[in-house]
Amino acid sequence: MTVAVFPGSFDPMTLGHVDVARRAMSFTDELIVAVGMNPSKRYMFTPEERLILARQSLEGCEGVRVEPMSGLLVDFCRNYQADVIIKGIRGAADYAAEEPMALMNRHLTGIETIFILADPVLAHISSSLVKDLAHHRAPIDDFVAPAAAQAITMRIKENR
Ligand code: PNS
Repeated sequence: MTVAVFPGSFDPMTLGHVDVARRAMSFTDELIVAVGMNPSKRYMFTPEERLILARQSLEGCEGVRVEPMSGLLVDFCRNYQADVIIKGIRGAADYAAEEPMALMNRHLTGIETIFILADPVLAHISSSLVKDLAHHRAPIDDFVAPAAAQAITMRIKENR
């Protein structure tokens, strides 16, 4: 049985993330989506909210679980006896950021990272762009699940 971990901030999860999770399920038995924290980022949603939105976005995806992650990704992977890490790559900038992390994680425990190239139809979608669109009152339903779209719109209204 192959277990894969798909880590990220997911602030919130986009349809691009959902596509990567679905495609990872074609070659793994279980996918654990790890909702983590990048200290260099400011988040719109709390860790608990990001977890709930990720679960709602992935509803109906069989074999996928969403769990909170604190501490090192390699420790999370060890806890869940994961065989591999999955990352989505939208372009050169993503690759440049991900390469040292993949090498570091392999150095630490030997775990490999598999990169899934974003579907070109979804490669322009990022959580930050979606939030920026919403700040300008543009529609965001093409980019995130309905629960996430509603949560973003509400959070922006609360902060106005
Ligand atoms: O979606 P993001 O913001 O790119 O996700 C980054 C995340 C949470 C996956 C990354 O920061 C991470 O793996 N954090 C856990 C801490 C860790 O293992 N740091 C060392 C990475 S080599």
